[in-house]
Amino acid sequence: MSIKHKKATSIISMLSILGFSIYIGYSTFNQKVLAEDIMVYKSPTCGCCKKWVNYLKKEGFSVKDKDVRNMGKIKNQFGVQRQFQSCHTAKIGKYFIEGHVSASDIKRLMKEKPDIKGLSAPGMPMGSPGMEGHRKDKYDIIAIDKNNNATVFSKH
Ligand code: CU
Ligand code: CU
Repeated sequence: MSIKHKKATSIISMLSILGFSIYIGYSTFNQKVLAEDIMVYKSPTCGCCKKWVNYLKKEGFSVKDKDVRNMGKIKNQFGVQRQFQSCHTAKIGKYFIEGHVSASDIKRLMKEKPDIKGLSAPGMPMGSPGMEGHRKDKYDIIAIDKNNNATVFSKH
Protein backbone atom coordinates (compact mmCIF):
# COMPACT_ATOMS: atom_id res chain seq x y z
CA MET A 1 0.00 0.00 0.00
CA SER A 2 1.39 3.39 -0.95
CA ILE A 3 1.66 6.14 1.65
CA LYS A 4 -0.89 8.19 -0.25
CA HIS A 5 -3.31 5.29 -0.22
CA LYS A 6 -2.76 4.69 3.50
CA LYS A 7 -3.52 8.32 4.24
CA ALA A 8 -6.75 8.14 2.27
CA THR A 9 -7.85 5.00 4.10
CA SER A 10 -7.17 6.50 7.49
CA ILE A 11 -9.11 9.66 6.57
CA ILE A 12 -12.02 7.51 5.47
CA SER A 13 -11.99 5.53 8.70
CA MET A 14 -11.75 8.74 10.72
CA LEU A 15 -14.73 10.15 8.87
CA SER A 16 -16.75 7.03 9.45
CA ILE A 17 -15.95 7.11 13.16
CA LEU A 18 -17.02 10.74 13.24
CA GLY A 19 -20.21 9.94 11.38
CA PHE A 20 -20.93 7.07 13.72
CA SER A 21 -20.50 9.20 16.83
CA ILE A 22 -22.76 11.88 15.40
CA TYR A 23 -25.33 9.17 14.73
CA ILE A 24 -25.01 7.80 18.30
CA GLY A 25 -25.29 11.30 19.74
CA TYR A 26 -28.36 12.01 17.65
CA SER A 27 -30.11 8.76 18.50
CA THR A 28 -29.53 9.12 22.25
CA PHE A 29 -30.89 12.66 22.02
CA ASN A 30 -33.95 11.39 20.19
CA GLN A 31 -34.46 8.58 22.66
CA LYS A 32 -34.12 10.97 25.58
CA VAL A 33 -36.95 13.08 24.22
CA LEU A 34 -39.17 10.09 23.56
CA ALA A 35 -38.35 8.02 26.61
CA GLU A 36 -39.02 10.86 29.01
CA ASP A 37 -41.49 9.74 31.63
CA ILE A 38 -44.93 11.21 31.45
CA MET A 39 -47.17 10.81 34.48
CA VAL A 40 -50.89 10.85 33.77
CA TYR A 41 -53.43 11.57 36.50
CA LYS A 42 -56.92 10.50 35.58
CA SER A 43 -60.25 9.53 37.02
CA PRO A 44 -60.69 5.71 37.28
CA THR A 45 -63.93 5.85 35.27
CA CYS A 46 -62.59 7.93 32.36
CA GLY A 47 -62.50 5.93 29.11
CA CYS A 48 -61.04 8.63 26.87
CA CYS A 49 -58.21 9.15 29.38
CA LYS A 50 -57.25 5.49 29.08
CA LYS A 51 -57.32 5.83 25.28
CA TRP A 52 -54.99 8.82 25.49
CA VAL A 53 -52.58 6.86 27.70
CA ASN A 54 -52.49 4.04 25.13
CA TYR A 55 -52.02 6.55 22.32
CA LEU A 56 -48.95 8.03 24.07
CA LYS A 57 -47.45 4.57 24.58
CA LYS A 58 -47.88 3.87 20.86
CA GLU A 59 -46.13 7.18 20.15
CA GLY A 60 -43.07 6.01 22.07
CA PHE A 61 -43.56 7.70 25.44
CA SER A 62 -42.83 5.97 28.69
CA VAL A 63 -46.15 6.47 30.46
CA LYS A 64 -47.18 5.99 34.04
CA ASP A 65 -50.77 6.57 35.05
CA LYS A 66 -52.47 7.03 38.35
CA ASP A 67 -56.18 6.91 39.14
CA VAL A 68 -57.19 9.89 41.20
CA ARG A 69 -60.55 10.55 42.83
CA ASN A 70 -60.15 14.29 43.18
CA MET A 71 -58.84 15.61 39.86
CA GLY A 72 -59.59 19.18 40.98
CA LYS A 73 -56.89 18.90 43.59
CA ILE A 74 -54.30 17.80 40.99
CA LYS A 75 -55.28 20.63 38.64
CA ASN A 76 -54.93 23.15 41.48
CA GLN A 77 -51.58 21.69 42.43
CA PHE A 78 -50.24 22.08 38.87
CA GLY A 79 -51.88 25.49 38.40
CA VAL A 80 -54.32 24.55 35.64
CA GLN A 81 -57.01 27.23 35.78
CA ARG A 82 -60.66 26.38 35.22
CA GLN A 83 -60.89 27.79 31.68
CA PHE A 84 -58.03 25.54 30.53
CA GLN A 85 -59.24 22.36 32.14
CA SER A 86 -60.09 19.05 30.49
CA CYS A 87 -60.38 15.48 31.83
CA HIS A 88 -56.89 14.17 32.65
CA THR A 89 -53.79 16.09 33.74
CA ALA A 90 -50.27 14.88 32.98
CA LYS A 91 -46.82 15.99 34.01
CA ILE A 92 -43.69 15.77 31.87
CA GLY A 93 -40.53 17.49 33.06
CA LYS A 94 -41.64 20.76 34.60
CA TYR A 95 -44.71 21.03 32.36
CA PHE A 96 -48.34 20.04 32.75
CA ILE A 97 -50.21 18.56 29.81
CA GLU A 98 -53.93 19.10 30.19
CA GLY A 99 -56.36 17.01 28.16
CA HIS A 100 -56.09 15.42 24.73
CA VAL A 101 -52.85 17.01 23.51
CA SER A 102 -51.07 15.40 20.53
CA ALA A 103 -47.76 13.56 20.89
CA SER A 104 -46.23 15.88 18.27
CA ASP A 105 -47.01 18.90 20.47
CA ILE A 106 -45.49 17.24 23.54
CA LYS A 107 -42.35 16.31 21.58
CA ARG A 108 -42.05 19.87 20.31
CA LEU A 109 -42.53 21.19 23.85
CA MET A 110 -39.72 19.00 25.18
CA LYS A 111 -37.45 20.03 22.32
CA GLU A 112 -38.08 23.78 22.51
CA LYS A 113 -38.53 23.95 26.30
CA PRO A 114 -40.34 27.31 26.37
CA ASP A 115 -40.77 29.20 29.62
CA ILE A 116 -44.41 28.22 30.20
CA LYS A 117 -46.39 26.18 32.74
CA GLY A 118 -47.85 23.76 30.25
CA LEU A 119 -50.04 22.92 27.29
CA SER A 120 -53.76 22.35 27.14
CA ALA A 121 -56.50 21.14 24.85
CA PRO A 122 -59.33 22.79 26.80
CA GLY A 123 -62.56 20.82 27.01
CA MET A 124 -62.67 17.56 25.08
CA PRO A 125 -62.30 18.32 21.36
CA MET A 126 -63.86 15.65 19.15
CA GLY A 127 -61.27 14.05 16.89
CA SER A 128 -58.31 14.73 19.19
CA PRO A 129 -56.12 11.76 20.25
CA GLY A 130 -58.24 9.53 22.50
CA MET A 131 -61.40 11.32 21.36
CA GLU A 132 -61.72 9.76 17.93
CA GLY A 133 -65.29 9.41 16.78
CA HIS A 134 -67.80 10.24 14.10
CA ARG A 135 -66.71 13.86 13.94
CA LYS A 136 -63.47 15.84 13.84
CA ASP A 137 -63.59 19.38 15.17
CA LYS A 138 -60.98 22.06 14.69
CA TYR A 139 -59.25 22.98 17.93
CA ASP A 140 -56.19 24.80 19.27
CA ILE A 141 -53.51 23.58 21.61
CA ILE A 142 -52.71 26.47 23.88
CA ALA A 143 -49.56 27.31 25.80
CA ILE A 144 -50.14 28.75 29.28
CA ASP A 145 -47.46 30.94 30.80
CA LYS A 146 -46.65 31.71 34.44
CA ASN A 147 -49.22 34.55 34.50
CA ASN A 148 -51.90 32.28 33.02
CA ASN A 149 -51.79 34.03 29.66
CA ALA A 150 -52.78 31.72 26.84
CA THR A 151 -51.26 31.71 23.37
CA VAL A 152 -51.90 29.32 20.49
CA PHE A 153 -49.18 26.64 20.39
CA SER A 154 -50.61 24.69 17.46
CA LYS A 155 -53.77 24.30 15.40
CA HIS A 156 -55.47 20.99 14.67
CU1 CU B 1 -61.06 13.04 27.80
CU1 CU C 1 -58.82 12.26 29.75
